Amino acid sequence: QLVNGFTLMDYAKKHNLVLPAFNTTDYEMTLAIVKAFDEMGLGGYIQISSNNLKFSSPQIIANMTREVMERENVSTPIGLHLDHGKSFDDVKACIDAGFTSVMVDASELPYKENIKAVKRASEYAHFFNIPVEAELGGIKGKEDDHVSDVNAKTHPEDVLNFVEKTGCDVLAVAVGNVHGLDLSPNLDFPLLEEVAKNSPVPLVLHGGSGIPFDQVRKAKNSNLIKVNYGSDLRKAYIKTFGQSYDQNHNEFNLIAVASAGVDKVIDAAKNIIHEVNEV
Ligand code: G3H
Ligand code: ZN
Repeated sequence: QLVNGFTLMDYAKKHNLVLPAFNTTDYEMTLAIVKAFDEMGLGGYIQISSNNLKFSSPQIIANMTREVMERENVSTPIGLHLDHGKSFDDVKACIDAGFTSVMVDASELPYKENIKAVKRASEYAHFFNIPVEAELGGIKGKEDDHVSDVNAKTHPEDVLNFVEKTGCDVLAVAVGNVHGLDLSPNLDFPLLEEVAKNSPVPLVLHGGSGIPFDQVRKAKNSNLIKVNYGSDLRKAYIKTFGQSYDQNHNEFNLIAVASAGVDKVIDAAKNIIHEVNEV
């Protein structure tokens, strides 16, 4: 069922899991992600970025996620998370719509501005008992239609102060992870360990697509609680449409093609769930 973000974090700790967080954009991706978690019998996050919410709305996504989970009769715990929340208004709209966890991504702002933005969102979110993920450092690569060439690894000496000042509950770090499929990630483990040592809260890795699974599993020792996967699932979905069109230019049964795409996304998500925790 759809669960509160703090409850989901407790579940991860209790079962010693790193929770995959899969990016959705629409009904088909949501259905595939829910089914993958349900079929694997493990919990995790469905998330959508501020940017992709422009295509629908927080209310549409929250209602749809609840409906899909009810219809599929899902019993495994799933959180609905705002990914790369770009403004206070986005954070507020998602919490008001029923999201159970949020991220405030002000990492492109100067350090003090980042703190200010996260602190404001944390105060609002905590009033509703919703956890907040913040980001410290710059993650290079392609995130939706935004390409960042900022590669500012997280400074371990900033971590404690940042967490204390912002009140964030989870911290996304830049330790050699990248967004998208165009760059090669390579986790800097000494840095990750240093960051983890200084962080009073669990860590999140963005840019899961492309990180070798043995590296993700190793990162688990550094208080990792969540890994984000976007591109891998979108690629599986979009590829199906390309292949279908190549095979038959006269295929007009959209549902047949979409459900083949959903099946591919389920397989990709299940493989990730399996690999991340060796279940
Ligand atoms: O926030 C979303 C993720 O960081 C997605 O990254 O597309 O490289 O898997 P990815
Ligand atoms: Zn990300």
